[in-house]
Amino acid sequence: MTVSYDSLLPCQSLRVAIMGAGNVGRTLAQRIVEKDLADVVLLDVVEGLPQGVALDLMEAQGLEDHNCQVTGTNHYEETAAADLVVITAGRARTPGISRDDLLAINAKIVAEVAEKAAKHSPNAIFIVVTNPLDVMTYLTHKVTGLPSQRVMGMAGVLDSSRLQTFIAMELGISTANVTAMVLGGHGDLMVPLPNYCTVNGIPITELLDSQTIDRLMARTRQGGAEVVKLLRTGGAYYAPASSAYVMIETILRNQSRLLPTAAYLQGEYGLNDIYIGVPCFLGCGGIKKILEVKLTSQEQEALHISANSVRKNINLVLESVGVK
Ligand code: NAI
Ligand code: 2OP
Repeated sequence: MTVSYDSLLPCQSLRVAIMGAGNVGRTLAQRIVEKDLADVVLLDVVEGLPQGVALDLMEAQGLEDHNCQVTGTNHYEETAAADLVVITAGRARTPGISRDDLLAINAKIVAEVAEKAAKHSPNAIFIVVTNPLDVMTYLTHKVTGLPSQRVMGMAGVLDSSRLQTFIAMELGISTANVTAMVLGGHGDLMVPLPNYCTVNGIPITELLDSQTIDRLMARTRQGGAEVVKLLRTGGAYYAPASSAYVMIETILRNQSRLLPTAAYLQGEYGLNDIYIGVPCFLGCGGIKKILEVKLTSQEQEALHISANSVRKNINLVLESVGVK
């Protein structure tokens, strides 16, 4: 009997290109393939690194029982035709280095990576992870010239997940019962929203006193620094990779989930021409809708203070990389 192997060829798979094969990039690649979501191509500036990570992940394919392909490259042509591009390339935080200290170093890297990636995947949706997050997302939007619905940043999902964890730990309950919402820039000025944090619908303000809530909010603001201090050699990557994964899955599976996302604002929350964390419905096409939730006057003020800090850095960055 003659078998035609053509009929065994798979249909075209979804394809995610991850720029930067460091801790966040490679952990995200692992999440994506082990959940059978999409093929992944990892790109890094270091020769051999993305190829080695890809080979290592592929050698686990049979054991993890998934069907996704991982490849590694140093060439942008090989990232072409991605459905989604994630930018993790850049320097990570080390003790004593704030997210904002990374500004100049990472601006140069992200401007180059975003422009080249967009050239080869002009129809892709871009999710930026590199810090300082809101500024790098704005820069990516500028240099790629892509519609703002297709360029967003990951931070709010992570900050909210940290707060969710701290609330669950404080109450000694499952995180599955807890929802949390953190808006604003991804930095010390982020804006956790206690009124939108609940335990199965019950506001945490009914379960915890205000001092405890303030302590959990403060810990959330320092969430990244707390991990850096313990690890000493770099920043967090398991929870960041999981956070990016949730956004990617929501988009590629068109789940229309409401997720805090660094999005381009044009009047929402009284802010204009800026990327900052706000609640967004994500799905196919990227950001489907920015939701304007009711904030207290203090929260609204805190959001504007956070936005001012992001704007200051955007201006510095545009100047440093010569983008108008
Ligand atoms: P890492 O240092 O482990 O990996 C970064 C990778 O980028 C390295 O492999 C490096 O070779 C590569 N790279 C540098 N320049 C490049 C270029 N021009 N082209 C391609 N690749 C290049 O860092 P890690 O831990 O993976 O973090 C990556 C970034 O993500 C950092 O900026 C970090 O601060 C940020 N981050 C942001 C989070 C968020 O919530 N938005 C959470 C966690 C990390
Ligand atoms: C974090 O929050 C470093 O931004 C990174 O873990």
